[in-house]
Amino acid sequence: MSEQTPAAVFLKDYKVPDFLIDKTELTFDLDETQTVVTSRLHIRRNPESDAATAPLILDGGEDVKLIGVAIDKYELPKEEYNVSNDKLVITATPDAFILTCETLIEPQNNTRLEGLYRSSSMFCTQCEAEGFRHITYYLDRPDVMSVFTTTIIADESRYPVMLSNGNEIERGKTEDGKTFVTWHDPFKKPAYLFALVAGDLEVLNDTFTTMSGRDVALKIFTEKHNIDKVDFAMDSLKRSMKWDEEVYGREYDLDIFMIVAVDDFNMGAMENKGLNIFNSSCLLASPETTTDDAYLRVEAVVAHEYFHNWSGNRVTCRDWFQLSLKEGFTVFRDQSFSADTHSDVVKRVEDVSFLKTAQFAEDAGPMAHPIRPASFIEISNFYTLTIYEKGAEVVRMIHTLLGADGFRKGSDLYFERHDGQAVTCDDFVSAMEDANGVDLTQFKRWYSQAGTPILNVTDSYNETTQTYTLNVSQMTPPTPNQPTKLALHIPVRAGLIGPDNQPLSFTVDGKEQTEVVLHVNQAEQTFIFENVASRPVPSLLRGFSAPVKLDYGYTTDQLLQLMSGDVDGFNRWSASQQLAVNELLNCVQQYQAGKDLTEESSLVSGFESLLADSTLDSAMVALILSLPSQAYLSELSGVIDPHAIKAARKHLRLLIASSLEKEFKKIYEANTVTDAYQASAGQIAKRSLKNAALSYWVASGNDEAKSAVVRQYRNADNMTDQFSALSIIVNNQLAEADDLMSAFFEQWKHESLVVNKWLMLSASREQENGLVQIKELMEHPYFDIKNPNKLRAVIGGLGQNVETFHNLDGSGYAFLADQIILMNKRNPQIASRLCTPLTRWKRMESRLSEKMKSQLERIASQDLSKDVYEVVSKSLA
Ligand code: ARG
Ligand code: ZN
Repeated sequence: MSEQTPAAVFLKDYKVPDFLIDKTELTFDLDETQTVVTSRLHIRRNPESDAATAPLILDGGEDVKLIGVAIDKYELPKEEYNVSNDKLVITATPDAFILTCETLIEPQNNTRLEGLYRSSSMFCTQCEAEGFRHITYYLDRPDVMSVFTTTIIADESRYPVMLSNGNEIERGKTEDGKTFVTWHDPFKKPAYLFALVAGDLEVLNDTFTTMSGRDVALKIFTEKHNIDKVDFAMDSLKRSMKWDEEVYGREYDLDIFMIVAVDDFNMGAMENKGLNIFNSSCLLASPETTTDDAYLRVEAVVAHEYFHNWSGNRVTCRDWFQLSLKEGFTVFRDQSFSADTHSDVVKRVEDVSFLKTAQFAEDAGPMAHPIRPASFIEISNFYTLTIYEKGAEVVRMIHTLLGADGFRKGSDLYFERHDGQAVTCDDFVSAMEDANGVDLTQFKRWYSQAGTPILNVTDSYNETTQTYTLNVSQMTPPTPNQPTKLALHIPVRAGLIGPDNQPLSFTVDGKEQTEVVLHVNQAEQTFIFENVASRPVPSLLRGFSAPVKLDYGYTTDQLLQLMSGDVDGFNRWSASQQLAVNELLNCVQQYQAGKDLTEESSLVSGFESLLADSTLDSAMVALILSLPSQAYLSELSGVIDPHAIKAARKHLRLLIASSLEKEFKKIYEANTVTDAYQASAGQIAKRSLKNAALSYWVASGNDEAKSAVVRQYRNADNMTDQFSALSIIVNNQLAEADDLMSAFFEQWKHESLVVNKWLMLSASREQENGLVQIKELMEHPYFDIKNPNKLRAVIGGLGQNVETFHNLDGSGYAFLADQIILMNKRNPQIASRLCTPLTRWKRMESRLSEKMKSQLERIASQDLSKDVYEVVSKSLA
């Protein structure tokens, strides 16, 4: 451990800033190794602060060198300021003044990818959450909002494009022949929304006319060789702008909106005011290089960042504990946009499946936190699935409780009341309450309580009185620092299914209906349904109306009935998942007991009728066909046995494949897309069903299937079909696997994002000496440890490689720990994310658990960044 233990900050300690910065004027004299930043900050004491003589304390970083500082025209001598622990402290200041500050930074050596850094040939920035302090000394907190004017000076021949937030207001030459460009952003913003880009970039131009008739210039910038891959992003942007006007009444505010793609980026993308910066993996798309999944991701991320212009920028967060205020809300908004654009059921299944796999695991681990955390050591560690995905679920529950119109009234009031402010989650809920005249006091516990609630449901039916009774109890397990929990307000959308697969009507609250939202808000509760004609099968938690674990003892027959007969598409999927989970967990137990795995599966007959029904949505059928993932089954296991889970999945897959060989062949052949590639719901559905069927068909061992998959690989005119075929060939270890992997690399080695796919598949490939292969990949000339996408591809592939990663000798874990230690200082954010698999150590079967723990201890013995320290120390606690 480092000498000093990094300290936590607490929400309860929040205080308004002692100073405000009305205007921020920045000048960047850009240089790869020595960039000089001059800031002129118009500072005054905050009238709301109670500390009338507080010193001025500005945030900085160990990588920022202070050259000089002046108050108004007075250059401060060394005795009048103090720089230590990354803070610049000035004890005596006037009540209002201009602080001029000159700093030196080294973009070329910035490996953390926070602040100003280089990515291939360009300069770019990432300032959320606390990156701006790596550029210059500042009040780097979101409740300090300022009007920014930014001048960029650079050599125009190498950096013809120079961008910052807002509008370009001036351009000219400096005395030494360089070019300067000045940008002005009229909207007050916190420093985390600042952005700067400079490079030799190509641009795609377009325009959008807003609802009030203003023309907005839209510009997407990339390096020259990628400009042919941004049409889809541009189209997604225009559709997002229109959707936000129609669904939320939100209009864009500047005359220009820009997006830039960069290759080296820690996260997905960033909503800087008027100048979004994207990881190129979330922006570039072309049929030949991009899979359907990646297309949908581009669309969702473009929408997400655009939507932040209101939910995040115009109304921002008071402090970082409120992060879910903007992220949960904005994820809910982008999910709704995608659902409206494609199929809402398919989108919901994908989102819920992800939540139940990854967020539930986080909620059950040592890093569990409420969507509004009470404390943190390093805020970068809290850009989590809980803040984002569970945060979106909480907003969705408010939507369910208030209805679409009530929710819109609430969001209108929220934007109107708080435009230009930095606010809290409580402010958001208050706007929802005030606009609808409701009391959400109990509901607000979702913001402060961590952990996934478990709903236990039993029922009874009285034939004579025709009443059906549901007994519901709720329990949220303890999480770190929260041993006991209060009852939550949980909306449970429910209906009843009759014996003939018809929805049964019932009377609740004196009203005859076929669907109801039950308000579960006590530890134990009873709900009575009257006038129920026969004993029903309950369809509970429709559309996944709350982020909880539902425990009702469905029989196999009931699940089969829901799977084919529920009017709620989401619950049809949910029933099929439950059925598959039951069978898989049964196989896991048999495997662990050393028994033969069962040759009986009701999924076979379930899938058989599914495949025979041509009225169903192909995308839904494909989702139902894909068995619960290794990760999801791990999350469900009390004690995780990766090898047993893997064996169970493989067994059931083969059983289904061999039983339904002919059916899969038929589906495969019936779902060929002949039209030119489009990322449309219809085509995506067909391809996903076709490739799901192909995967089973090949697994059956059929020779015709093997030729078909190789043929598909060779003839494919789009990456979805090509890469699906390649993955099937590799995962089924067909004879062609080695040759086609090499051919794929040769064909695509000039396309960095495709190389990442190749890296991931190579790393996940089951082979004799898996770890040797992975080490070779990291030595490969096309691997680059400075590029987070490449590192994530290899380490992500390793994570899927059960044999190699969970090798009983612990070598997989040791290798991962080596990478964490290597990245710890170079790029703490990435290093900290790599720790995630190890944080599950307490739940692993004993032999693996010990090995994981000892690697965590080895990491803990290093001099750690705050990021890694927090995750590792909490995991070992
Ligand atoms: N606000 C960005 C988004 O969700 C995420 C940026 C997070 N960056 C970070 N370094 N933690 O769209
Ligand atoms: Zn976001």
